[in-house]
Amino acid sequence: MKEDVEKVLISEEEIVAKVAQLAEAITETYNGEPLTVIALSNGALIFAADLIRRLPMRLQFDNIMVSSYQGTESTGKIKILSDLKLPVAGRHVLIVDDILDTGRTLKAVKDNFLDRNALDIKICVFLDKPSRRVKDITADFIGFSIDDEFVIGYGLDYDEMYRNLPYIGVIKQEAVK
Ligand code: IMP
Ligand code: MG
Repeated sequence: MKEDVEKVLISEEEIVAKVAQLAEAITETYNGEPLTVIALSNGALIFAADLIRRLPMRLQFDNIMVSSYQGTESTGKIKILSDLKLPVAGRHVLIVDDILDTGRTLKAVKDNFLDRNALDIKICVFLDKPSRRVKDITADFIGFSIDDEFVIGYGLDYDEMYRNLPYIGVIKQEAVK
């Protein structure tokens, strides 16, 4: 697996430091209010697991799996492959994802939770690729902004592989089918 990595973009040490920094910012923002943290499966699970262990407030944790828009320019609804188990109505909701790319997924998920009457919704992403955005959406908490490069590791996959790399890396051209 390691032989498919062209270069390490964000090291394990940098990840640990950034997660601590994000947790501090989130803790300050919510000022002790109870929170519902919702991770987008599967990509966000590793980041979310690290992040919530650094949050001191009372929180509930759930996840949702939605279909991606790969290959389409669809603008409307998302297809929910596996829904939340917890209600979000009346709750402070923090959506956690691995990366904000075009913004289609997070825009649709946020709208979906607004329809379910969440009290307020904020978004935390580990990575942001602002140059790729097609939807009008920004994250409230961002780990790193990166260039338009395809990255793997720390939950991010290429063809469902490499999620278990402990750092963020750039994949070698030869490994891309
Ligand atoms: P969006 O709806 O275009 O913002 O897509 C976000 C999703 O695309 C992320 O949750 C990832 O699953 C996937 N994605 C976008 N960029 C990358 C990347 O560089 N590496 C791996 N997955 C990516
Ligand atoms: Mg993915």
